[in-house]
Amino acid sequence: MKVLTVIGARPQFIKAAVVSRAFVEHRPDVHEILVHTGQHYDANMSDVFFDELGIPLPDHNLGIGGGTHGQNTGRMLEKLEALMQAERPDWVLVYGDTDSTLAGALASAKLHIPVAHVEAGLRSFNRYMPEEINRVLTDHVAALLFAPSEVARTNLCNEGIANDRIRLVGDVMYDAALFYNERARKPAWFDSLSLRSNEFVLCTIHRAENTDQEARMQGIFDGLGESGLPIILPLHPRTSKKLTQMNVNLPANVTAVDPVGYLEMVWLEANCKIIATDSGGVQKEAYFHKKPCITLRDETEWVELIEGGYNALAGANSKEISNLIRSANFPRFESNIYGSGDAGRNIVEWMCR
Ligand code: UD1
Ligand code: UDP
Repeated sequence: MKVLTVIGARPQFIKAAVVSRAFVEHRPDVHEILVHTGQHYDANMSDVFFDELGIPLPDHNLGIGGGTHGQNTGRMLEKLEALMQAERPDWVLVYGDTDSTLAGALASAKLHIPVAHVEAGLRSFNRYMPEEINRVLTDHVAALLFAPSEVARTNLCNEGIANDRIRLVGDVMYDAALFYNERARKPAWFDSLSLRSNEFVLCTIHRAENTDQEARMQGIFDGLGESGLPIILPLHPRTSKKLTQMNVNLPANVTAVDPVGYLEMVWLEANCKIIATDSGGVQKEAYFHKKPCITLRDETEWVELIEGGYNALAGANSKEISNLIRSANFPRFESNIYGSGDAGRNIVEWMCR
């Protein structure tokens, strides 16, 4: 069997590492072809993950990144179609909700090659988000939909997607957290900050709905500043560019650093006091590492974390953000709601049936 995997953005390298390893371990007869669209291209947004996570190097890199949504998706679609026609895979495998996900799904569906979608069924019900458009369209053309949670499965059923296309497999990011935890690495710069473990807030910000609106960016940075706690902010290139354009100054308690590799990110997550983020993946990782999470968005796809009290929505409201950071008081972390750490294996088994 031949599987053509399309990845392109940071979180997809981490998710694909889990499933690629599961193919090698459980179905070495499967031939996986890795295609990197080039959506993320800086060394610390792409190469570092291939170096650290044991993912095979991509068989193809399309070199498409840095454009608008339409430019990126259109150019990816054209190149992916040609590649799929040449390779004729039995399956195309896509992850998450980026422009690379949609391009991979559309190209293969139109060539009548079945698409499998990992992280299917996530919904924010906010069509302003480019990710929501990408997810809904990908789910509706996919042949096999791998839902990470019960809520995701229900969302798909509510949209009329036939039950026999849906598999509740757990979350590959939980598999990743378990596997890479013991390989976590303290960043070289950490000791120079004179901070101790469990004393700092780890923050990430990159969502278009925040970075593209000056009032929201100002609200978030005001809130981080008012919290008064030391904050480490690995800065996504999108956010870095917007901060410069908007002239938003970083508060004195916020230390911005370059994006870190996954092993360093895991160390920061395991050693921080609180996580504040607008990332999808980092919200779940907060839960895996038993850290209170304050989400810098007005809604989230990971509603079970809110319902369980592990995560609180602060939006971009400075008062909410500073109050929640100062008073973070979350319940005990109990059973895992994202599976048993065998999502990768489940996915491989379903695809090989
Ligand atoms: C993308 C995904 C988002 C995901 C995020 C993960 C879409 C629509 N969005 O957002 O769902 O949460 O990745 O991080 O697919 N840039 C660089 N270097 C890089 C990568 C990006 O400079 O290596 C800059 C470029 O100016 C680029 C901008 O960041 O134009 C945005 O990149 P893009 O891939 O379009 O979206 P992200 O914000 O990264
Ligand atoms: N991540 C990382 N380095 C960083 C920031 C994030 O390795 O500097 C990891 C993080 O641990 C998680 C994934 O990237 O596994 C989340 O990606 P991101 O926040 O870019 O995208 P999202 O999950 O919101 O789509």
